[in-house]
Amino acid sequence: MFSHDIIKKRILVVGANGMLGQRSIKFFARQENVQILGCSIEPEFVFDNIDYVSCDLSKRESIKKIVYDFYPDIIINAAAYTNVDKSELDRELAWKVNVKGVEYLAETCRVIDAHLIHISTDYIFDGTKGPYSETATPNPLGYYGRTKLASENALKISGSINTILRTNVLYGAADSRPDFVRWVINSIRIKNNIRIVTDQINNPTFVDDLVQAISKVIEFGKQGIYNIGGKEFLSRYDFTLKIAEYFNLDKNLITPIETKELNQPAPRPLKSGLLILKAETELGYHPHSILESLALMKRELNL
Ligand SMILES: NC(=O)c1ccc[n+]([C@@H]2O[C@H](COP(=O)([O-])OP(=O)(O)OC[C@H]3O[C@@H](n4cnc5c(N)ncnc54)[C@H](OP(=O)(O)O)[C@@H]3O)[C@@H](O)[C@H]2O)c1
Repeated sequence: MFSHDIIKKRILVVGANGMLGQRSIKFFARQENVQILGCSIEPEFVFDNIDYVSCDLSKRESIKKIVYDFYPDIIINAAAYTNVDKSELDRELAWKVNVKGVEYLAETCRVIDAHLIHISTDYIFDGTKGPYSETATPNPLGYYGRTKLASENALKISGSINTILRTNVLYGAADSRPDFVRWVINSIRIKNNIRIVTDQINNPTFVDDLVQAISKVIEFGKQGIYNIGGKEFLSRYDFTLKIAEYFNLDKNLITPIETKELNQPAPRPLKSGLLILKAETELGYHPHSILESLALMKRELNL
């Protein structure tokens, strides 16, 4: 099905239409000696100059066919059932995508000795003692967090070559995937009042920094668990103020609230975030500051 150039490293990006998937494709497509294939659940791909196949991660045969046809050296799993609140209700599907799908990928990787790079989350923690190191004890509050923790555990016993990158609050410039930053800008520019929580603390992650970490994992062949986050730990409210300040938005339209006022189906970890020392020292990971990231987004998207 695919022609192979044996000199090139073959990278399969699963979830290629998502925020991380798109940015990974954009980055690796520019690298020399890389042959890239995107796959995701949607029939159409956002990029027309990149090889793409539609796939359903929750279907074992669909995954086996793509992996054995393309025979990748590396699989980046950027696909997931990411809607935290819907995961509470749509439990069967969330588990199929987030756990069974990862098991299928690991199974195929084990057979062909491909390296699986999987993305996890700080939602595996309860948010009482953050920020968390890689060795902290997980205790997910909601079903999404339970699926992601189960995906990590599935990988641990899979016998595959794998790396788990845990991240939190992704933002960045993926096309047609408006992120938190653009939501804030767009809402305030049309004079909508936005209510933002003051009691959720994280270190928001510029998605291109996560791509940088993936690239380092590949370069150094690192396995195990790494936390990938931003430099700054702050509340979502303070993050929003930084965005407003940088883009010269009316801060009076930002109302501070507490998480409990939102009555969301899934409980959120509050004092959370991820310590990144291990990634800094072992991968040479250097995230941008929030202001640097906003400047990059502004330039790329003309915000
Ligand atoms: N975003 C965050 O703040 C955040 C924080 C911590 C960890 N993470 C983790 O980081 C990773 C990437 O997140 P993201 O924000 O880039 O996610 P995203 O934008 O929601 O992208 C996920 C992609 O996977 C696709 N997908 C869903 N079900 C699939 C299936 N059965 N088969 C194949 N593809 C499927 C989605 O398609 P549809 O959109 O059409 O369903 C979408 O294209 C995920 O593992 C997520 O859990 C994200």
